[in-house]
Amino acid sequence: MEIVVSGTRPTGVLHLGNYFGAVRNYVRMSEDPNYTCYFFIADYHSLTTHHQPAELTKLVKQTIATYLACGLDPKKVVIYIQSHLPQIPELYLLLNMLAYKGELEKVATFKEKIKMHSENINAGLMTYPVLMASDIIIHRAHKVPVGKDQEQHLEMTRNFAKRFNSRYDVDFFPEPVAYNFGSELIKVPGLDGSLKMSKSGAANNAVYLDDGDDEIRRKVMKAKTDGGPTEPNQVKPQEIKNIFELMDIVSAPDTIRHFNDAYNNCNIRYGDMKKQLAEDMIKCIAPFRQKINELLVNEDYLHKVVRKGGEAARESADKTISGVKKIMGLNYF
Ligand code: TYM
Repeated sequence: MEIVVSGTRPTGVLHLGNYFGAVRNYVRMSEDPNYTCYFFIADYHSLTTHHQPAELTKLVKQTIATYLACGLDPKKVVIYIQSHLPQIPELYLLLNMLAYKGELEKVATFKEKIKMHSENINAGLMTYPVLMASDIIIHRAHKVPVGKDQEQHLEMTRNFAKRFNSRYDVDFFPEPVAYNFGSELIKVPGLDGSLKMSKSGAANNAVYLDDGDDEIRRKVMKAKTDGGPTEPNQVKPQEIKNIFELMDIVSAPDTIRHFNDAYNNCNIRYGDMKKQLAEDMIKCIAPFRQKINELLVNEDYLHKVVRKGGEAARESADKTISGVKKIMGLNYF
């Protein structure tokens, strides 16, 4: 049996990037009997930037509902909230002794965040990769379904796992790998011409799994385009490439071929392409939206799912922490 672990920061209902980059793979892996899966809500990870307490509570519930709406079955996988496992901060503290300031300062996401929040460069932000490694190796995971933006964090997780093994001359932690069924990790682009669909991007950058039909149409129709190709088979500029990449995700192969040919023959009408993209996104999103809204009114059920998941996850985490403490000589009596 291989262990699979992954998580999402509770920044609300997820967007198409989260779904196609990660959560769709959670669901596929959860259906494979060769995997034992742990999927969590990374609430501690959302505290590195100043948060609103009441908002966080609401967002955690929305994220649980979204996991379930996407098809995670609590009978097959362990679904839990990160802060329900005291073993995670315990391992984080121990791993911090093996994490060096120099390597943490070099992490791309840290460098980006300190530019965005220069008034709040806190130690939690800097040690984010150590907490993320703790989330993963607390269950001694082998595979981690994530999008391309998490690649460097996974590399650091492997470094910490290897460092622990070599420091104590043991073979305790496996070296977990970032995983995607399509083999390459993916990055779903934004509708505003940016390389990544993101919760913190511009207003019409991301399409959320609970967006209404008209909202989706509005966002897609506002997507950036240009004056159109001026010669056959012209290289696509970034914003046009993005629209094609989004179509690759939600549209049928015939539709994609039709617009690709039109682009290459210089007779593409971006308005028609965007209308089609919006309708294909709606087809994909409408069932999620309905399910999320149904689940959100059933708070008792959401609570039951994470209570049961928390128990199973703590049991697994306890075994790891006991092993780690024994290896480190922290088992006195
Ligand atoms: P987060 O919350 O930003 O995103 C959750 C998952 O969605 C993927 N993702 C994308 N994939 C493709 N294209 C996009 N545009 C896109 N945007 C987001 C992310 O790669 C991620 O898999 N640090 C993590 C949360 C985390 C975690 C962990 C993940 C904390 N501990 C342990 C795995 C294992 C994060 O901020 O993801």
